[in-house]
Amino acid sequence: MLTPTPLAPVSVLGLGLMGTALATAMLKAGHPTTVWNRTPSKTGPLTAQGAQPADTPAEAAKASPLVITCLTTYDDVTEVLRPLTGTLAGRTLVNVTNGTPAQARAMAARAEEHGIAYVDGGIMAIPQMIATPAAYVLYSGDESAYEEHRPTLAAFGGTRWTGADPGLAALYDLSLLTGMYGLIAGVVQSYALIGSERIPAREFAPLLHDWLNAMTDAMVPNTAEALDTDHHLTTVSSLAANQAAFPNLLDTFSGQGVRPDLFEPMRHLLDRAITEGHAHDGLSRLVKLLADR
Ligand SMILES: NC(=O)c1ccc[n+]([C@@H]2O[C@H](COP(=O)([O-])OP(=O)(O)OC[C@H]3O[C@@H](n4cnc5c(N)ncnc54)[C@H](OP(=O)(O)O)[C@@H]3O)[C@@H](O)[C@H]2O)c1
Repeated sequence: MLTPTPLAPVSVLGLGLMGTALATAMLKAGHPTTVWNRTPSKTGPLTAQGAQPADTPAEAAKASPLVITCLTTYDDVTEVLRPLTGTLAGRTLVNVTNGTPAQARAMAARAEEHGIAYVDGGIMAIPQMIATPAAYVLYSGDESAYEEHRPTLAAFGGTRWTGADPGLAALYDLSLLTGMYGLIAGVVQSYALIGSERIPAREFAPLLHDWLNAMTDAMVPNTAEALDTDHHLTTVSSLAANQAAFPNLLDTFSGQGVRPDLFEPMRHLLDRAITEGHAHDGLSRLVKLLADR
């Protein structure tokens, strides 16, 4: 009878909401999983599912060739890992803590100095999505370490390689989050405005949802096409038309007692686009104006 090949062991450092979801996914996929958390009580539910608790970060790191860190900030990761560089040498560190491209590059450089294979990760999911088809993680850095551990990392969901520059996963991650926060700004302002006449949010929600979906379905690919062809003239909606209509939003915010703070910068950008002679261009021109260093 064939005995199944044992799955690769993994260690997860940091058992907050996300780290717990990651460790749970590893356990469910069948990987021997060692866990460590600063507040030890958080290991309990994972130990009950078969995880091996470690008393110290060093003990956790020694247990597996693949060490995953999921703490609040890069400073926290640095603080926890600083005494462990010798232990981590020859292992792969996958750090999925949210940070900047510069922080990821600095961490990769320190890892290289100590003979640690470094892969940076950006999780595009909330904890509840981990290990579902909707979740994916962006990776960058040491490609051969990534390829070696990709079958294990697949326990979290999709794996997307972004490049050997360790800062790229964070750049993709933050660019996607930027889109999300822009959407959040629109959604909160929209609810504030409709709510100024006590219209129930639940009544308005389907309209807002369908409108945003229709707009993003068209605007996201159309803007990409305009940018990559550097062709900004539009047959859809000119910057001149947007600039003319925008004061209606701001005047209505003010008339309805809704703060305009989130939207004022957009008016300045539209004004600048017109002043600089881009009246007939579409919204893609605004990307060029923002990226103008
Ligand atoms: N939650 C999400 O939806 C989500 C999505 C994508 C990415 N992320 C990223 O994943 C990372 C973790 O998020 P989370 O939601 O799991 O946060 P969380 O629930 O607040 O957990 C934070 C974790 O970091 C640990 N920690 C913080 N400072 C530490 C230090 N100085 N030394 C040792 N451990 C320290 C905490 O330990 P204690 O338990 O001892 O406090 C805890 O395990 C963040 O970078 C976050 O941006 C989260």
